[in-house]
Amino acid sequence: MTQCSPLDGASHNAPPPVTRQGYRNAMARLGAAVNIVTTDGPGGRHGFTASAVCSVTDSPPTLLVCLNKGSSAAGPVHANGVVCINTLAAGHEPLSNLFGGRTPPDERFASGTWHMGATGAPMLVGAVVAFDCRIVRAVEVGTHDVLFCEVIGVAEGGSDESLIYYDRRYHTLSGPTDD
Ligand SMILES: Cc1cc2nc3c(=O)[nH]c(=O)nc-3n(C[C@H](O)[C@H](O)[C@H](O)COP(=O)(O)O)c2cc1C
Repeated sequence: MTQCSPLDGASHNAPPPVTRQGYRNAMARLGAAVNIVTTDGPGGRHGFTASAVCSVTDSPPTLLVCLNKGSSAAGPVHANGVVCINTLAAGHEPLSNLFGGRTPPDERFASGTWHMGATGAPMLVGAVVAFDCRIVRAVEVGTHDVLFCEVIGVAEGGSDESLIYYDRRYHTLSGPTDD
């Protein structure tokens, strides 16, 4: 395939390399739901905020989560082999920041109300939806592990307002009203 400039169609110069910062700036324009990914088991209880979550397939129901290999949650997540993906609701910004900062795990779970899912991973009461999963595969890509997570249980929360991260800020997206 030939590469050409989208502006004049005549240049065959290679496009300039995409820098790390350029990529990050571009990704800031890709809005995403905010989730707290939790785990518990022999590796201990832990959790982290993640926007890199998306569906892979409904047969079998599978999500993927991208986890920074250097984060403090990485060891426990791999050791436990289970996660619960809790999709955050309006008003959960402080919880998102707590799980996205350099806070010890027990301090993170001191906020919010947590139930134990079937896998043992903590499930957030008041999440928009929660996916209880076991990790079936992990693929290393650069700084991150892509975790393929088979969904073994789903719990829908009461909130119809989802927390979105876009343009490096939180936003709220409302669901359908009753009228
Ligand atoms: C809105 C938001 C989205 C994030 N998304 C991800 C993500 O998808 N994957 C990831 O590994 N870290 C993500 N992070 C960063 C982790 O939550 C953060 O690195 C981790 O909780 C803190 O790491 P530490 O426990 O090593 O201090 C996100 C943080 C925020 C605030």
